[in-house]
Amino acid sequence: MWFFNKTWFFNEMCTSKARLDGKTVVITGASDGIGKETARDLYARGARVILACRNMEKTNKVVEDIKNNPPSRITEEEYKTNVGELAIYCLDLSSLKSVKDCAKNLLTNEAAIHILINNAGVAVPYFQKTKDGHETTLQVNYLGHFLLTLLLLPKMQLSSPNCRIVNVSSITYFTVDIDFDDINLERCYTEYKSYARTKLANILFTKELARRLKEANIHGINVYCLHPGFIQTKIYKNFGSSIGVNDSIFPWNICSFIFNLLFCKNVEQGAQTIIYCSVDEKTANETGFYYSNCNVGNTYRKANDHQYAKKLWNVSCRLLDLEPEDDFTQFLETVSRQML
Ligand SMILES: NC(=O)c1ccc[n+]([C@@H]2O[C@H](COP(=O)([O-])OP(=O)(O)OC[C@H]3O[C@@H](n4cnc5c(N)ncnc54)[C@H](OP(=O)(O)O)[C@@H]3O)[C@@H](O)[C@H]2O)c1
Repeated sequence: MWFFNKTWFFNEMCTSKARLDGKTVVITGASDGIGKETARDLYARGARVILACRNMEKTNKVVEDIKNNPPSRITEEEYKTNVGELAIYCLDLSSLKSVKDCAKNLLTNEAAIHILINNAGVAVPYFQKTKDGHETTLQVNYLGHFLLTLLLLPKMQLSSPNCRIVNVSSITYFTVDIDFDDINLERCYTEYKSYARTKLANILFTKELARRLKEANIHGINVYCLHPGFIQTKIYKNFGSSIGVNDSIFPWNICSFIFNLLFCKNVEQGAQTIIYCSVDEKTANETGFYYSNCNVGNTYRKANDHQYAKKLWNVSCRLLDLEPEDDFTQFLETVSRQML
């Protein structure tokens, strides 16, 4: 029934008709959920879309699905012409080696990178560390993307103007702080806390990166972050299971049913704010902002604290054994030399 497929509120669509012919887009976590739908839309706009994913078999099937099924805004006939290209690169954000290898491959094989969409995300139910020694949610959702972005920035500088970096955050960001004395949450891990503070980190990173780019007079690369809405994807459903909502009986499952009915978007709707930040002409001259429902939104609490953002930047560098230099151009050169 139509109402199971539509949210009643907060359902803006990206109306831009912008084409991306000749542009290259990298999307992490494009093998599922809203990343996959974003890839479909940008491919339909003529972009070379790179799906940076960890599961090659699954992503090969996704490529076939995207090729055969257009986004709902265009007809199958239109989809036969004017589409772009699809390519897969291996990227497992829970391994810093994989992040470096992926960056190396992209820098070697791709002539340009115009749009980077840091979308992949997990919510891990139990405390777990990666081989690199970082809490898994922190590394996949934030630290891996932080490193990937720094490594791809020089290529994006060469591909500018009109380049964009889009970080997929979540509205959960304002409910938590980052405990810099226990960055891995070893003392009091919960899935929610771990997830939400990585989403706060995505926003702080966006603002701090935009500030550093401006300060270094690097123009033509804008940075955006966003809340996509609530969408019943794998991550959303796993979250529900881990807090017991899916299994519990009245009243929780009734509440969650009503919430989903009223507020959840389908995956195509969930991709709209990512697409808006990636292509829309209205956002072309904006940087360092947070978006929701295809509009600029306000941020609250720690997300507005510049010193906090600076601190996170320095802590992130320390976690990656990088020296946080003040000269941003010099810093990017050092990161590339040290990491590649
Ligand atoms: N759904 C929501 O309601 C909601 C709300 C707010 C924010 N978000 C954010 O939206 C983004 C996309 O989530 P989604 O809803 O589309 O969830 P999803 O369907 O679970 O997709 C998550 C994607 O991330 C990938 N991924 C997970 N771990 C990875 C790793 N170690 N390395 C590389 N890729 C990895 C997954 O790959 P596999 O296919 O291999 O698992 C998948 O492609 C996330 O950042 C999430 O935090 C979602």
